[in-house]
Amino acid sequence: MAARILVVDDDSALLDALPETVRLRLEDVEVETCDSAPEALARIESNDYEVIVSDIKMPGMDGLALLAEIKQRRPSTPTLLITGHGERDLAVAALRGGAHDLIQKPIDRDYFVASLERAIQLRELDRRVSEQREALERHAQVLDHVGDGVFLVDDGGVVQLWNPAAAAITGLSQEAVVGRPAESAIPGWGAIVPVVHVAASPGDRDGAFEAFPVELEGRELWLSVSGVRFGDATVYAFRDLTAERAIDDLKREFLATASHELRTPLAAIYGAAMTLRRRDIEVNEEDRDRLLGVIAHESDRLARIVNEILVADYLDSGRLRIDPTGLDPVKTATEVVNAARVVAPESIAIELEAAADMPAVTADREHLRQVLVNLVDNAVKYSPDGGRVTVRIEDRGPSVRFSVSDEGIGIPPNQQTRVFDKFYRLDPDLTRGVGGTGLGLYICRELVRRMSGRISLVSSPGEGSTFVVDLPAAPRSDASSRPHEIRASAFPQPL
Ligand SMILES: Nc1ncnc2c1ncn2[C@@H]1O[C@H](COP(=O)(O)OP(=O)(O)OP(=O)(O)O)[C@@H](O)[C@H]1O
Ligand SMILES: [Mg+2]
Repeated sequence: MAARILVVDDDSALLDALPETVRLRLEDVEVETCDSAPEALARIESNDYEVIVSDIKMPGMDGLALLAEIKQRRPSTPTLLITGHGERDLAVAALRGGAHDLIQKPIDRDYFVASLERAIQLRELDRRVSEQREALERHAQVLDHVGDGVFLVDDGGVVQLWNPAAAAITGLSQEAVVGRPAESAIPGWGAIVPVVHVAASPGDRDGAFEAFPVELEGRELWLSVSGVRFGDATVYAFRDLTAERAIDDLKREFLATASHELRTPLAAIYGAAMTLRRRDIEVNEEDRDRLLGVIAHESDRLARIVNEILVADYLDSGRLRIDPTGLDPVKTATEVVNAARVVAPESIAIELEAAADMPAVTADREHLRQVLVNLVDNAVKYSPDGGRVTVRIEDRGPSVRFSVSDEGIGIPPNQQTRVFDKFYRLDPDLTRGVGGTGLGLYICRELVRRMSGRISLVSSPGEGSTFVVDLPAAPRSDASSRPHEIRASAFPQPL
């Protein structure tokens, strides 16, 4: 595209001669002329000229005033000013005002054309620089907004760029990392860099994104890192896989504990059944009852484990039906406590405390029973040295409170929210010999939540724990909402 030049002069002879000179000597240039500063301003308003050439001395608005306006409206347009011979003061004022060059009268055509050419080149360069700056700014903004950590390490091993996601994931700020050797700024980098895959180009996906553990301020992060060569530097991108790893670990742990949990009762059932079947041993009535008791009890345990896994799956997939009705809280709790007494070790006493006149609670019968069973089961299980387990029911106005307290091993404060997480167990290696799938409290929390209630925990290690469940009381005005409990179960019943 032709470079457009505007020449401003009140001298009509010059206005004719200059464009001709330019056209003859420069290619791809279009020259427009006008004979006053105000007209020039009007044109500049709607046209972005490559270069403007103006006489200084003009009637009305002079070239210096025009220059000042151009600086305001088109700051990147170079302006050449024409001065008379010996007008030193004007020349100085023009340069101070930001003129690109001065052209002295009488005009030396070679000088004028050379100066104009330089101005056109300068404008072109200026334009390219700002385009590149804009492109760079856009790229930098993209890096600011990607979710992956991105950083650039030059061949001297110094970090040159560290995007906000990198800072957010690692907790290492830009100031702490940029300009420093990667090995000292990023903990563990020295061990990672020899093994991380660095591709020659972005398309090369071989072995990309391997996960590495990085210890940052006492936290272990699992980061998947990959690199791409980039001139005399390497760009690394990384992603935080810590949460995914934790879920994977939990799943692995769950499979290990669940299969252990299933195998133990199965072995007991198998052993009892085989003994009963043997014809070579005389089994008396008492032993027969005991062995059948083992089979019944262990089958019940198996069914409970399978039931927990099923309920957790139902909860996760949103398929669990909740059917709240007005229930007698004392009746439900009594059933749970009576059943628990049968199976609990003799050294553990299970008590139920409730005022005589309890309001009905709005809950799903089967789910409330499951919550209480899980809590009482835990209270018994984690009270290894005997002690008392108390189920208390209180009228709390708009809600009914069930609390299950024990005098067992307790739960350290920093684990008290985590115990409600799926598969979470304080003692996954079964060092205490107490098994479980880690689903019990997760199920409690989810069921209580879905019944519009709250579950919380107060515990001191070594002293015991109290799990508190608040569920909405049934509306008192409704006489029919007094305990009635007829409804089919939404999920498989234990045997
Ligand atoms: N009353 C309690 N006293 C001490 N620790 C407890 C108590 N209740 C739960 N915990 C801790 O919380 C963890 C999670 O409990 P949760 O009931 O979810 O799983 P679990 O009892 O291990 O297995 P299950 O799925 O068979 O119930 C337990 O492993 C135990 O470490
Ligand atoms: Mg449990």
